[in-house]
Amino acid sequence: MRDSEVPGPRPHQIPALLRLAVSDPLRSMRQTVARYGDVVRLPIAPGRSIHLFCRPEHAEHVLVAQQQRYGKAFTYRPLREWIGLGLITSDGELWERQRRLIQPLFSHRRVLGLQPLMAEAVSRTLDSWDRLPDGSVLEATEAMSGLTIDIVGATLFGADLSGDKDRVYHAVESLQHAVTRVVKNPLTWVAPRLAYRTTPGYREWDHAKSVIDAVVARVIAARRARDRGDEGRDLLDALLDARYEDGSAIGDRQLRDEIVTFFMAGHETSANSLAWTLYLLSTAPAVRERLEEEVDTVLAGRVPGPEDLDKLVWTKAVLSESLRLYPPVWTVERDAEAEDEVGGVRVRPGSTVIVPPYLVHRHPAVWPNAEAFDPERFLPERAAGRHRYAYIPFGGGRRMCVGNAFALIEVVLALAMITQRYRLNLLPGFDPAAKFTVTMRPLHAMAMSLHRRG
Ligand code: HEM
Repeated sequence: MRDSEVPGPRPHQIPALLRLAVSDPLRSMRQTVARYGDVVRLPIAPGRSIHLFCRPEHAEHVLVAQQQRYGKAFTYRPLREWIGLGLITSDGELWERQRRLIQPLFSHRRVLGLQPLMAEAVSRTLDSWDRLPDGSVLEATEAMSGLTIDIVGATLFGADLSGDKDRVYHAVESLQHAVTRVVKNPLTWVAPRLAYRTTPGYREWDHAKSVIDAVVARVIAARRARDRGDEGRDLLDALLDARYEDGSAIGDRQLRDEIVTFFMAGHETSANSLAWTLYLLSTAPAVRERLEEEVDTVLAGRVPGPEDLDKLVWTKAVLSESLRLYPPVWTVERDAEAEDEVGGVRVRPGSTVIVPPYLVHRHPAVWPNAEAFDPERFLPERAAGRHRYAYIPFGGGRRMCVGNAFALIEVVLALAMITQRYRLNLLPGFDPAAKFTVTMRPLHAMAMSLHRRG
């Protein structure tokens, strides 16, 4: 197909669309897809375009089959200001070296070994809820964030971060806000550092960064000071012991960047997913009753162990469906480094390709009644035959989420344990609009009343 034949806005329409993309990214994407279809080209400069691909086969092409032609998009660069060159933001040889070192530490078997520590962290939160009067109101996004910060602290760093929850929650909010502001600055395309320094608000973000840095520095210093071998082996121990192929160990700067990355990537995504799930359950009483029945039957009042996870089939289906409708990482973006052709469309080097899980997950050709919350879609009999890349909450290919096993175990466990003891009811008037920053989180406070079960 010739460039001019690819559906998409004409050059004079682009500035208005980019302005909308900056103020309301999802609306601009949905409008674009509604008008031009699921393969769109936006010519933004001579020889340079933004491409939007929303079909599963195109997700597979870009993220997996032809992944060697693509690098992470320029849009991730502002993140380097805070997380440095950790696994999410690095590229090329540095990324490959780090991924080889880190991936084995997140294997399913290893993460399953962390399950008891995760359960203890969830119990701590639920015990704190037990001290509140029945019917107390909590803000679900913040509460889930506190829970997952606790889990990350305990399982990955062997640290008690319960006293840091509030500060970290607000610092992460501020950093998310910063990324969206910086990406709006046209300088991001050519000089990301300068873009950061010239975007109003950066002093506040520097402060947020120093909050995260202080927590991480404390965690690392405590571990270095400790007698090795006297306690359990969490991720930090494993990372300190791991060796590159040439026998060397990870350096201080790289260690800091990776730890900040795990810390940031490891709690906010899971927290959002749990908050959206609690919202969805609150709107679907029959789904919630079935969940309560499953949890009561499988666990029979016990704290779940690793052997219980596979039996929680409905719990998993509920979470999968929640991740379909509200994928915390709602857009995945790549810059083409080599020429490619996707679905008959030529992609030139330097162009940016957007594959949004949010839209792939709601593609009407793959997902009947796509907007509805229907966990049955994820029961084995209904899932059979579906395109493998129709569902990509963790991305795909070599840059797929390294923490996906961790995340799935964590959210299943947390939802099962919460359901075992509590029912959360959304207070009337909640507007489920989302805020699209690096992740997709509820825009408004999600007030829920807490009721002890049984
Ligand atoms: C529900 C929870 C989570 C979701 C939906 C999620 C989603 C994703 C997605 C879509 C990517 C790929 C981005 C891309 O291709 O550009 C990614 C990458 C990554 N995630 Fe997650 N994630 C979750 C939880 C976690 C957890 C718990 C950790 C760590 C403990 C983690 C660590 C990472 C890292 C380090 C990367 C970069 C991997 C690389 O590029 O090599 N994530 N995540």
